[in-house]
Amino acid sequence: MCLIGGDGSRGRYDHGPGGKPRPPIKPQRVTCYNRGSKCFLKYVTCPVQCPQVQPKDGKSKGCFLDCYSPKCEAVCRASTVRPAVMKAVVITTPGDPQVLQVQEVENPEIGDNEVLIRVEASALNRADTLQRKGLHPPPKGSSPYPGLECSGIIEAVGKAVVRWKVGDQVCALLAGGGYAEKVSVPAGQVLPVPSGVSLKDAAAIPEVACTVWSTVFMMSRLTAGETFLVNFRSLLSSGNEEKLAVCKDLGADVCINYKTEDFVARVKEETGGKGVDVILDNIGGAYFQRNIDSLNVDGRLFIIGFQGGTVAEVNLSGLLARRLTVQAAGLRNRSLENKAAIVSEVEKNVWPAIAAGKVKPVVYKYFPLTEAAEAHQLMESSNHVGKILLIP
Ligand SMILES: NC(=O)c1ccc[n+]([C@@H]2O[C@H](COP(=O)([O-])OP(=O)(O)OC[C@H]3O[C@@H](n4cnc5c(N)ncnc54)[C@H](OP(=O)(O)O)[C@@H]3O)[C@@H](O)[C@H]2O)c1
Repeated sequence: MCLIGGDGSRGRYDHGPGGKPRPPIKPQRVTCYNRGSKCFLKYVTCPVQCPQVQPKDGKSKGCFLDCYSPKCEAVCRASTVRPAVMKAVVITTPGDPQVLQVQEVENPEIGDNEVLIRVEASALNRADTLQRKGLHPPPKGSSPYPGLECSGIIEAVGKAVVRWKVGDQVCALLAGGGYAEKVSVPAGQVLPVPSGVSLKDAAAIPEVACTVWSTVFMMSRLTAGETFLVNFRSLLSSGNEEKLAVCKDLGADVCINYKTEDFVARVKEETGGKGVDVILDNIGGAYFQRNIDSLNVDGRLFIIGFQGGTVAEVNLSGLLARRLTVQAAGLRNRSLENKAAIVSEVEKNVWPAIAAGKVKPVVYKYFPLTEAAEAHQLMESSNHVGKILLIP
């Protein structure tokens, strides 16, 4: 058994009979690589080559068991304490949903400006399916596991975090790592669970709220009285009548089945020939021309996805004649400051609407973390109406 001083000062490693007398310590049991009665550490070469170290057995160049320097202690601690582990969904190799497997991985570390969340639920996003296929790598420095949003309880806070404390119930916008038991996230991307929403279902909100608020309102500046193609109080297109009925129920004014109707003609019909003011588009290339044709004077097209490809040949004349703006953006690769600004605006503007019951998360199905592959299959089948949640 290896004992490490748990008093925050210099640790001591007690290796039983024959050791020098130790000053009293408050011991803390840790896992060490015992080999019978002998501690494996006895034969470890001291990597820091501390001058205080005396070779003890002729085999090791610098056994640090009798060295009380904090530097050596840190090395010893790192080599004896096995990292705490958690379960996470690992993309074992790029490919089909079956490549998603729950494995034991190291707990995430937290930085000074971060919090550690014990995940209650994480929600799927289309981007996760692209990441699984190797087409959407996580930004540098972020978790390699999928999961762009979660809800849960704060388990630890970094030194510089002031707003959050251990035990707070929150949801968060992540750059990755939500498909796990724990995830660390910059404090600026954390939100309280909105009033009236369960801790679990709060996982369904951050990504969609931040995407829509940042694109439609902060960048495309949709204002009262304007028309909007896709979402809230809107014209909305889908290829599935059941989905259209749900959307109508949620407040869409006009629902268009893109499989059976020409949405450009229908948009013109519904807007007295003018076209809509703002379009939020996730199809890209395949709809580029039709989106331009559907816009009113001073209209704004905002592209957030390429489900219909990235290449298009278009007639640009409408852009000039009607002073159109075309923009595109993703959330994941924005700077921390930019994400924090969006999250703050979302809390200010969307959270009250949720509390008032005007906006609500729509959850289609819950899956345990072990069934991440089935959850991805459902998303790729497009048979869902609403968010798909994973529960660790
Ligand atoms: N840029 C960003 O930061 C960002 C952030 C979040 C999401 N997104 C993107 O936003 C999109 C929506 O995300 P989500 O989570 O809501 O995904 P989702 O639940 O899978 O929804 C995709 C929607 O696209 C519709 N659709 C598919 N093909 C269509 C077509 N040809 N014409 C009209 N509609 C079509 C589907 O309708 P049917 O199933 O009825 O066909 C479905 O309603 C995804 O493409 C996602 O990648 C981007």
